[in-house]
Amino acid sequence: MTNVLRINKKIEPYNKKIIVDGDKSLSIRWVLLASQALGRSRAYNLLMSEDVKAALNSVKKLGIKVKLYKDLCEINGNGINGFKYKKNLIINAKNSGTLGRLLLGLLVKSTKKIKLIGDRSLSKRDFSRVTVPLKKFGAKFYYKKKNKLPLLILGSKSVKGISYVENKGSAQCKSSVMLAALNASGRTLIKAKKSRNHTELLFKYLKIPIKINKSKKYDHIEIKQPKKIRAFNYRIPGDISSSAFFIALTTLSDNSRLMIKNVNVNPSRIGVIKILKKMGAKIFFKNQRSYNGEIIADILIKSSKNLKSINCPSKLNSSAIDEFLIIFLVAAKAKGVSYFKDLSELNQKESPRLNLGSKILNMMGVKTKLSKDSIKIYGQPKLKIKKLITIKNYLKDHRIFMMSTIAALTCGGNWKIYDKDSVNTSFPSFLKIVAKLKNKD
Ligand code: S3P
Repeated sequence: MTNVLRINKKIEPYNKKIIVDGDKSLSIRWVLLASQALGRSRAYNLLMSEDVKAALNSVKKLGIKVKLYKDLCEINGNGINGFKYKKNLIINAKNSGTLGRLLLGLLVKSTKKIKLIGDRSLSKRDFSRVTVPLKKFGAKFYYKKKNKLPLLILGSKSVKGISYVENKGSAQCKSSVMLAALNASGRTLIKAKKSRNHTELLFKYLKIPIKINKSKKYDHIEIKQPKKIRAFNYRIPGDISSSAFFIALTTLSDNSRLMIKNVNVNPSRIGVIKILKKMGAKIFFKNQRSYNGEIIADILIKSSKNLKSINCPSKLNSSAIDEFLIIFLVAAKAKGVSYFKDLSELNQKESPRLNLGSKILNMMGVKTKLSKDSIKIYGQPKLKIKKLITIKNYLKDHRIFMMSTIAALTCGGNWKIYDKDSVNTSFPSFLKIVAKLKNKD
């Protein structure tokens, strides 16, 4: 089978109901926390993507029993720091920054050296953002190439709580330190710039001693080492980051309507909805309910004819951090010049997304003005592409693949998008859902 996707026709109007795959952040966190619980935990609707499979393989290598059934995953944890493994263990986080960084937090008390490796994209990414705080817990790190994978971690016998300030708005850094705190005697204090709060909600749900004081920009988190973590069952809701591609598709398509069922609409994740609504998108939450601290809703989207540009407030950046590529595409079809700023973190993702997003818009004939951490997009509501556009060499960034697919389905032109399998990183059902929306019945 060819690994290239070709699209040469815009999508026709549709009126459909879909479900998207499980939330990636919650799936990885469930795997890691279930590995530290005592006894059998179960997850329903766990995302079966490459990132989550890598998480399951990692804990298996660390001596944790994992069983997979049709719509169910079981993990039998040995308790906190209950990993069992031989010398010279190698763990492969593949493409997943979340897995690599969070897992290191769980390893601050490991007694033998463990090597962490990743794919080409992950090996380009900065690990000092977690190794700096994890060193304060006593862990040691050895690199071939400074701050990059592969690295070796050796834990410390006596791990004590630390104070740490997280200034990037990175949930990975905050969560890595929170997981390390499970191994640390005394208190761990974290002052963290606002970012997704799934780890906090799971700690609360699991009765891990955690206190949170919120100020405008920061959360002040205090964690005390729990005696144990109870095994727990969890039903993973749909991923808002995956939904975002279909929210944009429907917004940009003519006379279409879509309902996406059971999506996690945690307030720390819905920046994309706020931004697109400000631009004139028609998005509605239906049937909102809460689930173990998370909020779940069905999302109704209708096509929007009159999209307008946005001067995007940077306070929305962290809650939309994985959605900017698709937001840029909507801005490309909105009336006026849109401006997105303070986005240096975007170039730290699976690929340099700020630069590549801009490049793809330019290939489509949309003018942009790019700086190190900002982009201006000169929208063209009547944009129609007639030429051949080839998307390749993008470090197999799943979200570049999906953004390009949605661009092809909404702007026309003749597209050749390489590395189709990249989509399996976060959203294995993506192309099946596209096929369902194209299907007339
Ligand atoms: C994630 C945090 C974000 C996000 C990533 C998932 C998480 O990364 O981009 O896809 O699950 O904690 P940063 O912490 O680097 O912002």
